[in-house]
Amino acid sequence: MPMGLEAWLVTRLRDVRQVLDDPVRFSNAHDGLLRPAGASPRTEEAAAARAGNLLACDPPEHTRLRRMPAPAFSAGRMRAMLPAVRQIVEERLDALERSGPPADLMAELALPLPSLVLYELLGVPHADREELAQRAGLMLAEPAAGDRWLQMQARWRQYLAALVARARTDPGTGLLSTLVRQHGQEVTTEELVGMIDLVVLAGHETTAHMLGMAVCALLHHPDQLELLRARPHLIDTAVEELLRWLSIVNSGSAKVTTAEVEIGGRRIGPGRLVICSLPAANRDPQLVADPDRLDITRGAPGHLAFGHGVHYCLGAPLARMELRVVIPALLERFPGLRATAGPDFGNRHAVYGLRSLPVTW
Ligand code: HEM
Repeated sequence: MPMGLEAWLVTRLRDVRQVLDDPVRFSNAHDGLLRPAGASPRTEEAAAARAGNLLACDPPEHTRLRRMPAPAFSAGRMRAMLPAVRQIVEERLDALERSGPPADLMAELALPLPSLVLYELLGVPHADREELAQRAGLMLAEPAAGDRWLQMQARWRQYLAALVARARTDPGTGLLSTLVRQHGQEVTTEELVGMIDLVVLAGHETTAHMLGMAVCALLHHPDQLELLRARPHLIDTAVEELLRWLSIVNSGSAKVTTAEVEIGGRRIGPGRLVICSLPAANRDPQLVADPDRLDITRGAPGHLAFGHGVHYCLGAPLARMELRVVIPALLERFPGLRATAGPDFGNRHAVYGLRSLPVTW
């Protein structure tokens, strides 16, 4: 591991499912093991960073926290958000059209769209949204946990704490106010800020890079692009296959074994670090035949691009809805869309993605 630690990497579909199905023996509630060897524990800082973070706890604590934001991602809530998402998509397509051709699809569409959708979900005041989206884009360009990133992150958490404080006295609409109204007595401001921070962190970068990479994959597979243009109703299976084939979240969060376990015939002792490779599992021939081929008609049921088990992506319904709206709208608005240069792969954060995607039409 980069920090000098040793870990087990689990790659087969069956074994990855076994790990993710068992939060008792493969725990997310750890921090000590992820410190570089020899570094002293920063308990207060670590505790503040973990408060309310679903990915840093196990059941029953995880179950208690997750049921609070979960209703915001129900099918009914997604239907209610659809018109707003369509409008945000149209506005970003206008911005892309104004800025080119040629234009950078990442800067004009993929990076701002998910954060603007998240602000709608949370109920962030309209006046603040454009500036916050710009700042969120800047944050993604900074190395994670670098000095400037940490400063921006601290400002963002202060902003969230102020929103939570305001929602406690003057509840409005959106997830933030609902959380305060329904669970304000059970959770601290720190936990609420942590929960919302994770939703935004987990929902912005992933969806942004998934959108950029999905468009990039289609532009480089003209047969699949033409198929989707000719049969737009394939969008649902296309999105699932693109999620599987790209698997932009390379590994789920690291686990620590709480007992001796056996995976794929290997014995692993307690207290060991275990990491699941989602891309490897998603290209296991046990999942789909000819897994390296991109086939937008197959839908890839059971893929692990959103994880599996108790930590299965909370925002999957929102990400799916965004991708199902934006990809057809983009192809319809720009019938001659094509890449002008090779994709600039790379990302300074947790997912595999693109720094820019130059396109023309
Ligand atoms: C295409 C976009 C997305 C992908 C590929 C993705 C992928 C994932 C994966 C693989 C996990 C599991 C991580 C693990 O087990 O360690 C996860 C968890 C999570 N995701 Fe997503 N995600 C996406 C979009 C979103 C969105 C839009 C939101 C929120 C609005 C979101 C919120 C979360 C949260 C809160 C968790 C933690 C769930 C828990 O621990 O119970 N994600 N996501």
